[in-house]
Amino acid sequence: MEEQIIGIMGAIPQEVDGIIAILQDKTAVTLGNRTYYQGVLGKQKVVVVYSRIGKVAASATASALLLRFNVNEIIFIGVAGGIAPHIEVGDVIVARDLIQYDMDVSPLRPKYEIPLLNKTYFETNEMRSNQVIQHIEHFLAPETLSTKIAAQELDKFAIKQPQVYFGTIASGDQFFSTNQQKENLQQALPEVLCVEMEGAAVAQICYEYGIPCTVIRTISDKANQEASFSFESFVKQVSQVYGQEIIKQLFQ
Ligand code: ADE
Repeated sequence: MEEQIIGIMGAIPQEVDGIIAILQDKTAVTLGNRTYYQGVLGKQKVVVVYSRIGKVAASATASALLLRFNVNEIIFIGVAGGIAPHIEVGDVIVARDLIQYDMDVSPLRPKYEIPLLNKTYFETNEMRSNQVIQHIEHFLAPETLSTKIAAQELDKFAIKQPQVYFGTIASGDQFFSTNQQKENLQQALPEVLCVEMEGAAVAQICYEYGIPCTVIRTISDKANQEASFSFESFVKQVSQVYGQEIIKQLFQ
């Protein structure tokens, strides 16, 4: 049987540093301006990398994981801005499907459809996503979360009873930092739970190569005026813990 290797991606160092720190038998390979960490988590062979921000960087990195490192599954883990009104900082969104909200070749094809692929939404792997959701539910339970993140940090971000949701994620090459951006997306695509800058690009590459894809996003900000402040302090103080704990539980 073909050896199973899972690619684990984030966009920025703070999204994957906690995972790289717990890798066993770690080796590093630098290629095309990115460093790929090969190693083992539990018994699972993995390759961990951060792509840098945006759809181009993410798709190039996903392609390298597939073609150079022979991964046969990709899990993306990182942060996102909350779009649906009920989504709070500290919640986690696991993607059911992803859309590139900035793709538009209308009137040639319907808005958001990827030209020549005839596809608008990229579905994720249901089995892996369900498994991930169970681990996240355990991690977010008050008795677990309070042992992993200091009360002071949870208070700072007003994280009270964080929830995990399964739904649609929108990706595009923009950081949302105004209410106008948020309202525009809410109106255009009311089903979207959160916005980020890589997931749907990685999901497209996985779809084209026929490998399972999972996207996990912790809400770092509410994609509005306060987004840049909340994002910067959240990724500094909290997101590594979420990433490390969720991935650790999956493979232990
Ligand atoms: N990732 C985290 N927060 C974001 C935001 N506000 N806009 C786009 N991507 C994000």
